[in-house]
Amino acid sequence: MTFGKTILCIGAGYVGGPTMAMIAAKCPHCRVTVVDINPERIAAWNSDDLPIYEPGLDELVRTTRNRNLFFSTDIERGIRENDIIFVSVNTPTKSFGLGAGMAADLQYWEKTARQILEFSKSSKIVIEKSTLPVKTALAMERILNCRDNGICFDVLSNPEFLAEGTAVRDLEHPDRILIGSRDTDSGLKARQTLVDIYANWVPRQRIITSGIWSSELSKLVSNAFLAQRISSINAISALCEKTEADVTEVSRAIGMDTRIGPKFLNASIGFGGSCFKKDILNLVYLCRYYGLEEVAHYWENVVKINDYQQERFIRNMMGAMFNTLAGKGICLWGFAFKANTGDTRESPAIFIARRLLEERAEVVISDPKALKNARSDLSGVEGRVRYVEDPVAAAEGCHAIALLTEWHLYHELDFQKIFESMAQPAFIFDGRNILDHKRCFDIGFNVYPVGKPPLRHF
Ligand SMILES: NC(=O)c1ccc[n+]([C@@H]2O[C@H](COP(=O)([O-])OP(=O)(O)OC[C@H]3O[C@@H](n4cnc5c(N)ncnc54)[C@H](O)[C@@H]3O)[C@@H](O)[C@H]2O)c1
Repeated sequence: MTFGKTILCIGAGYVGGPTMAMIAAKCPHCRVTVVDINPERIAAWNSDDLPIYEPGLDELVRTTRNRNLFFSTDIERGIRENDIIFVSVNTPTKSFGLGAGMAADLQYWEKTARQILEFSKSSKIVIEKSTLPVKTALAMERILNCRDNGICFDVLSNPEFLAEGTAVRDLEHPDRILIGSRDTDSGLKARQTLVDIYANWVPRQRIITSGIWSSELSKLVSNAFLAQRISSINAISALCEKTEADVTEVSRAIGMDTRIGPKFLNASIGFGGSCFKKDILNLVYLCRYYGLEEVAHYWENVVKINDYQQERFIRNMMGAMFNTLAGKGICLWGFAFKANTGDTRESPAIFIARRLLEERAEVVISDPKALKNARSDLSGVEGRVRYVEDPVAAAEGCHAIALLTEWHLYHELDFQKIFESMAQPAFIFDGRNILDHKRCFDIGFNVYPVGKPPLRHF
């Protein structure tokens, strides 16, 4: 079969895999290839056991794979044979040298740019899918257009706004698609090529275009605003606990103001995931680089409140459980950073598990999708940890349950049976405020939500 357009994506991760599967599904006339340096990841994408869990992803991949969607480790061939190249490699926080702990580590990104330059035999459109500091496209352009061989590269910014756990739905019905380009003839032509791809399924009014720097910055700002809302309500949850106000009631009251809106106002143990923290730190680093100390300070506090919220959760557990956790069984319900994903990157559960182990608690971890990642996150950490998939069995004999991920299955458990199997007095710390607290209290639990008065029997 001959395909109209040939598309390559470099980086087969949480973004590259699902995004390209959706393009392949919606554009059967395009051939889409996803390449990665990690052979195990590619093998998993070619198997029945995909490397990531997302509702709806298995089916999407099953219907497109080997039809017009291909996964491969042959990066050189991929670059040679495709005219449109998405780059979706990881851009973690730098862990060494200048900007360590703040700036984005662009080594994977730059390596990709050099590979594109080395293997290209014709002109290409190169699309930044990864989240990057503002002006990265300039560096990309400088690397790519450094040879005088008649091959030209147009660099576009097309940040990805999907949320893990709802990636397939977000990709199918995006709030918006953002495409940033240079305001030159070839930049605008390249932009139109990408607009035409998305227009196969996204309504035209939802495809917005902008200058390339605005597009790069919008992704960082979008994540910073989302995280800021979480930190804002979490900061208020601390005040609620001191004043006997109820943070859910406060959220409802403020969220009905249409200027504020109801979303992202659930108090919790804090945000996790691979993006929020790293993107805010990246924003902070950029502000400092440009001498905007006050602006940097403002955004940095969003991360500080998130750390504070996690530490507060541990302190509340300690305070409730008579100031010692040593030798006590604590069952963690959920390890993924949010429901409907197995991803544990920057999950608050990692910090909480480590702190509990420092306090010499005996930790039992339960999660329907994230136990494999949890094992690797905690490998080498000293202390007693067990991994038990069934949440009811996991809680047996424990002194407390700490609910850390909002998996729906935790609503449906037999709390009477769980209570009877636990050491007494039994505690529930609901780090997501999703359980029926009154019912748990009536069964006999001492219940500690976030940002609400606890329900205790003593
Ligand atoms: N995960 C999300 O929810 C999300 C959402 C929006 C944007 N983003 C951004 O998208 C980018 C990718 O994120 P992710 O979560 O998919 O990361 P990931 O770590 O899951 O995937 C990145 C992949 O790139 C591969 N890679 C690295 N260097 C390579 C190279 N030179 N050649 C080929 N492959 C290479 C890695 O092996 C890895 O499989 C990041 O910049 C991230 O900030 C992520």
